Amino acid sequence: MAKKEDNKIIVFANQKGGVGKTALCVLFANYLANRGKQVTVIDADIQKSIQGIRNNDIRQYGKDAFSYYVQAYDVSKGPEAVGKLVEAAEEVSGYVLFDTPGNLSEDGMIPILEAADYIITPYQYETSTISSTGIFLQTLQKLRETFTKMHAKMIFIPNRIKKGSGTREEWDFWTATDNLFNAFGHVTSIVRDGIAIQRYNTVQNNEAQNKIVKDAFWDVLQEMKK
Ligand SMILES: Nc1ncnc2c1ncn2[C@@H]1O[C@H](COP(=O)(O)OP(=O)(O)OP(=O)(O)O)[C@@H](O)[C@H]1O
Ligand SMILES: [Mg+2]
Repeated sequence: MAKKEDNKIIVFANQKGGVGKTALCVLFANYLANRGKQVTVIDADIQKSIQGIRNNDIRQYGKDAFSYYVQAYDVSKGPEAVGKLVEAAEEVSGYVLFDTPGNLSEDGMIPILEAADYIITPYQYETSTISSTGIFLQTLQKLRETFTKMHAKMIFIPNRIKKGSGTREEWDFWTATDNLFNAFGHVTSIVRDGIAIQRYNTVQNNEAQNKIVKDAFWDVLQEMKK
């Protein structure tokens, strides 16, 4: 079977932990579903956080409260098993979002990266995060040379930006970072650090959450239209 015409595989990845892959994946799923888009979420993280959140949501809101499926994938099963699952994901209509462990040394990640139309990489303006995101990009670049099916466009989301931050030096640092990542793909508007983000579920975003993510997610949508 071939890839559905309107199928978009969107992979949230960064080797750096705790940058917001899982949170932004769920918030983006809710955002798209709210705009009437067809969405499927694949939880390929070993921790299966999204699957866990969905199970809690089912207990709290009932099994009919949802506008998209959450499906868990075990990337440790290896490239062949994951490859089959990825083929199935390509036959689904609409947006298929993958949350990943980001660990590029995991063989099961390869079929996911090969199928990816977009890789969304959240990062923070912080030296250690930027250098590990840089290493992540270098590794991706190497994989592209070996796995020539890889074709994903990169989208970077500066996440957890603290309100009130943005001194002259910080701005210079931010700009330098954005320029660096702009050489690899598109850098979106920032997502602010906000307590509201931490209480996300797989039903829908609340007003406070939407306010924080709307500029960045709008940028992502525009980028996907190109
Ligand atoms: N913009 C934000 N504002 C406030 N908290 C945030 C924001 N983005 C993410 N967080 C919180 O930061 C923590 C780490 O985020 P998350 O779990 O999404 O990162 P991750 O990249 O998926 O981590 P891991 O590598 O462990 O899978 C979570 O508690 C999440 O709720
Ligand atoms: Mg995660």
